[in-house]
Amino acid sequence: MNTPPSTLLSVENLCVSVPVAAAGGRARAVDGVSFSVAVGETVALVGESGCGKSLTALALAGLLPPGVRREHGTISFDGALVPARGRALRDVRGRGLAYIFQEPMAALNPVLTIGTQVDEAVRRHQPDADVAAQTLRLLERVSLPNPGELRRAYPHQLSGGQCQRAVIAMALACRPRLLVADEPTTALDVTLQAQILDLLTALAREDGMAMLLITHDLGLVARAAARVLVMYAGTVLEEGPVAEVLRTPVHPYTRGLLAAVPRLDDPLGQPLHGIEGSVPGPGRRPPGCVFHPRCPQVQSACRAGSISPTERQPDHWARCRLLNEDGNRLRLGLEEAHAVP
Ligand SMILES: Nc1ncnc2c1ncn2[C@@H]1O[C@H](COP(=O)(O)OP(=O)(O)OP(=O)(O)O)[C@@H](O)[C@H]1O
Ligand SMILES: [Mg+2]
Repeated sequence: MNTPPSTLLSVENLCVSVPVAAAGGRARAVDGVSFSVAVGETVALVGESGCGKSLTALALAGLLPPGVRREHGTISFDGALVPARGRALRDVRGRGLAYIFQEPMAALNPVLTIGTQVDEAVRRHQPDADVAAQTLRLLERVSLPNPGELRRAYPHQLSGGQCQRAVIAMALACRPRLLVADEPTTALDVTLQAQILDLLTALAREDGMAMLLITHDLGLVARAAARVLVMYAGTVLEEGPVAEVLRTPVHPYTRGLLAAVPRLDDPLGQPLHGIEGSVPGPGRRPPGCVFHPRCPQVQSACRAGSISPTERQPDHWARCRLLNEDGNRLRLGLEEAHAVP
């Protein structure tokens, strides 16, 4: 595939199917997703639960669970095509792709000390390193207190935030070029969320590491990413630079997600704005725009046919019939700009 040299990850028309009871036994949970991540860039993938964010992330490294299949699409990482299956996580890490998941305890072995687990990651990926010294350095880099002592602790003796830092240290041991962070702060309290996110962005900047940050929280996106993909029901509905998308969201779904972010300056007692309804599961997706049954601005044209991406600017596009050919929203009385949360 002919990709520009600064492109680290390129995904084209990715389709992932899952087993379902109806719809002939299988349906697409990810349906035609395309995006790229440049060297050192942080891209956010945002959407409600069940949109297909994690399956997209897992497909990048051939890590899809049993029964879930990559049906179509091309994935290329660091200039090499990623096969649809058959990659073990260790193998993938060796190629410079590391993952951090939502629940740090699930990534740690409860019967091994933190030091032993980071040692193992260092030994595997940096065979020439002084393992003990490198482990200590990594534990220091993720700002764990007393790393000399903490390396002898077991996961249950650490707080959730400390466990996530240890998992980040293990991920860094493979010197990743791309870190896929799937809801890395969702299991943590709000103060820790900000700390871990700031740590990840600082590490990414220092190491020139790219990051795919998966979250349902648009507030986190504003803090960490340069570009955002808004995903809904297996499809990307809007993509653009974060500041642009947050200030001038085009798709009614993006607008709904933004309106749902609580703000400190909201008047007291004001109800939170949610999006009515829920994400249709695989095999239950409507024809036309997948968001149309929940869209407050639905038109009859939205209920049929496929909806191509329309550019609002060269780097900001959305899949919405309410955009005219010049990328401007058709006049529906909702053209006001949104403030960045
Ligand atoms: N192993 C599986 N078997 C069947 N369906 C699955 C499987 N894994 C995921 N799905 C379905 O695929 C869809 C996308 O799942 P995915 O985990 O990618 O969502 P997500 O956007 O990461 O959601 P969340 O924010 O809750 O993590 C969901 O409807 C989910 O139920
Ligand atoms: Mg997920």
